[in-house]
Amino acid sequence: MSRSQWGSRLGFILAAAGSAIGLGAIWKFPYVAATNGGGAFLFIYLLICMTVGLALMLGEMALGRAANSNAVGSFRQLGGRAWPWVGFTGVLVCFLIYSFYSVVGGWTIAYIGKSLSGSILTSDAKVLGDTFNGFITDPVQPLIYHGLFAGLTLAVVLGGVQKGIENLSKFLMPALFVLMLVLIVRGLTLPGAMDGLLYFLTPDFGKVTGTMLVDAMGLAFFSLSLGMGVMITYGSYVGRDTPLLGSSLWVIALTVMTCFLAGLMVLPAVFAFGFDPSAGPGLTFITMPAVFAQMAGGQLFAVLFFCLLLVAALTSSVSLLEVVVSAVMDEFKLPRRRAALLVSAGVFLLGIPASLSLGIWREYTVFGKGVFDLLDYITSNLLMPLGEVLLAVFVGWRVWPVVQGELAPGGRNPLWLRAMRGFCRYLAPVLILGILVHNL
Ligand code: PFF
Repeated sequence: MSRSQWGSRLGFILAAAGSAIGLGAIWKFPYVAATNGGGAFLFIYLLICMTVGLALMLGEMALGRAANSNAVGSFRQLGGRAWPWVGFTGVLVCFLIYSFYSVVGGWTIAYIGKSLSGSILTSDAKVLGDTFNGFITDPVQPLIYHGLFAGLTLAVVLGGVQKGIENLSKFLMPALFVLMLVLIVRGLTLPGAMDGLLYFLTPDFGKVTGTMLVDAMGLAFFSLSLGMGVMITYGSYVGRDTPLLGSSLWVIALTVMTCFLAGLMVLPAVFAFGFDPSAGPGLTFITMPAVFAQMAGGQLFAVLFFCLLLVAALTSSVSLLEVVVSAVMDEFKLPRRRAALLVSAGVFLLGIPASLSLGIWREYTVFGKGVFDLLDYITSNLLMPLGEVLLAVFVGWRVWPVVQGELAPGGRNPLWLRAMRGFCRYLAPVLILGILVHNL
């Protein structure tokens, strides 16, 4: 069976950036940065993305293109018998992440509805907080939206690589940037917003702690979609003539920029309205409506914002589903349609306890965490770092000549490539093992 290919280099970059840019950058980054002291977190996040993040992204894309296979097959083909389970771990992590990602994706759909009805267009922190908490703890509503979100993702993936994923990314990602810029301008011109700006942009390195490093690294890998085989799968659809270094740099730059813009969009507003910066997962959903309430045409902006957040989430969830579907198709020789339906059904089922654990199933906990938090914790803090260490070791030690051949054809070995090898061989394993040990 011949594998699908991207229609163009731009399509590939936008699809990879679409996978990376999502709830991680727009929903997670602002609240994690806010709880970790702002400026210093931003700086460390940037540093990690540009070193280890770049090296792993290049490694994944090179592996996928060299093997021309999915996450599992690439490890098998290039590394032999001992390695495919690293790919399997990645596929499993995608499945687990997707289950709670789809729940949050569903929230964005619900908030489109709430914007249309106008019920969230207020600057009253209590009303906004109560609305958010009332919604996510409801036993029924979030499940309906979770199902809708999973259904939308399924529809895109069934459309196939080029038609489905590429087209969605090409038109809607640029729209997201423009809208964020408009919202930033409005947020920054609110009285009191400058405190938030300073909080976000002034690094206070006195606040750097082990937990912050761990959070920054976890978020860097999550937001760049690394360590789970996404970039391997997407890399396998890339033609030989596409330079991988330039493409990865674009993907990273766009993702980092989105995080930066999301911080600029949310944090000044948090300070202007006197919200609690460490409010956690509700931060974007609670803060942004207050900004809309202060804008001329606020309702329109609210609808637009949650629509684009939905699109950003969709281009990421599509990549999560695509990795699992691609592996299931190749490994079990199933047609795309059946594989996609099966995986989506599984994801929907697992999302149910995740969603309920925020409300009526709150008392059921393992190690003090409900299902939602447990899935997030196990994937972000344990399985993802594990997959990343193994990926770094695989790329840096086991198959470096293959990767080098993909990245710099003709036996060249420029300085940047030697740096990448060093990051894969030494820096990434040491840093990421540090995270794992800290988390355990
Ligand atoms: N990078 C996506 C985001 O930040 O929202 C989430 C994600 C997608 C993580 C795909 C991992 C992944 F494999």
